[in-house]
Amino acid sequence: MSVQAFGLSDDDRRPPLNDLLEVVQHGLAHKPKRLPSWLFYDERGSQLFEQICEQPEYYLTRCEIALMAEHAGSIADSLGADVRLVEYGSGNAQKTHLLLQYLHEPVTYVPVEISAEPLRQSIERLSDEFPLLPLQPLCADFTKPLRLPIPPRAPRRTVLYFPGSTIGNFDSHEAVSLLRKMRNEMGDAGGILVGVDLKKDTASIEAAYNDRAGVTEAFTLNMLVRLNREIGSDFELAKFTHRAHYNPMAGRIETHIVSQCDQQVKVGRSKVVFRTDEAIQVEYSCKYSLADFATLAARAGLAVKKVWSDPQQMFSVQYLVRTSALAG
Ligand code: AVI
Repeated sequence: MSVQAFGLSDDDRRPPLNDLLEVVQHGLAHKPKRLPSWLFYDERGSQLFEQICEQPEYYLTRCEIALMAEHAGSIADSLGADVRLVEYGSGNAQKTHLLLQYLHEPVTYVPVEISAEPLRQSIERLSDEFPLLPLQPLCADFTKPLRLPIPPRAPRRTVLYFPGSTIGNFDSHEAVSLLRKMRNEMGDAGGILVGVDLKKDTASIEAAYNDRAGVTEAFTLNMLVRLNREIGSDFELAKFTHRAHYNPMAGRIETHIVSQCDQQVKVGRSKVVFRTDEAIQVEYSCKYSLADFATLAARAGLAVKKVWSDPQQMFSVQYLVRTSALAG
């Protein structure tokens, strides 16, 4: 195995207690109340997310894996030979296996993941499966500027792989900033391979975020469990519910934690007042048409070079390059 363990730094999306308390106090003082969605992903939250991906209603993962299985060869051809593949938020890197099987002489694979344990496990599996591929794991927050490890030989291009429609968890302003940051990191000849969930009927989208087994509800409310444990708040879970509605105007699922009664919750030294039905906004999951996403990419100086999608247009995998590279 050829693993170079670079920058196995602290998990800086998991701030120290005082910072976490500040994040929460700040969000709950906002009108309307809101909390950042990264708070979902403690160990239990990450397990619940993996279970969400297996729910029959959550079509995203199934569709994306089917797309990768069907088109990995054509995707690899589009990326070309001698690629440095950098994956943002690699998690268990399930979809990457499919791609790596087809890549032509990849220079290196750089999984970027905030949580050290899934990163370690995925590297272990990949090094068994691809013993000759140099692996350069980076434990870091991909939303912050990255210092990529020096590749073992010069790549023809750097391709940033961002699957899972995680781009949808950023509002359009944040998504454009993130794409711009990626554009800088990939350089002139580089590209971005991104999974993008597509607009479709409201019922299918809402079902994906309200699975019958209640896994998504448990995932959402686990945020309060985490806060009780980590900042000593006293949210009573029975007094809150999960709500995920599709906002067709904004083209996104809006997930909230909703108070079931008038109540006060201890957060730090103060009490936060909740009225009946008052909601904390905890996540957006944006859905795009192909035209919407091309417009978003253009705002970041990127052009869509190729799209792979299923016949029902449920999900897409898109290859973006610099606008100037497509023109030239
Ligand atoms: C990680 N992300 C793309 C998921 C989504 O679909 O927005 C997170 C999620 N939240 C609830 N279910 C899944």
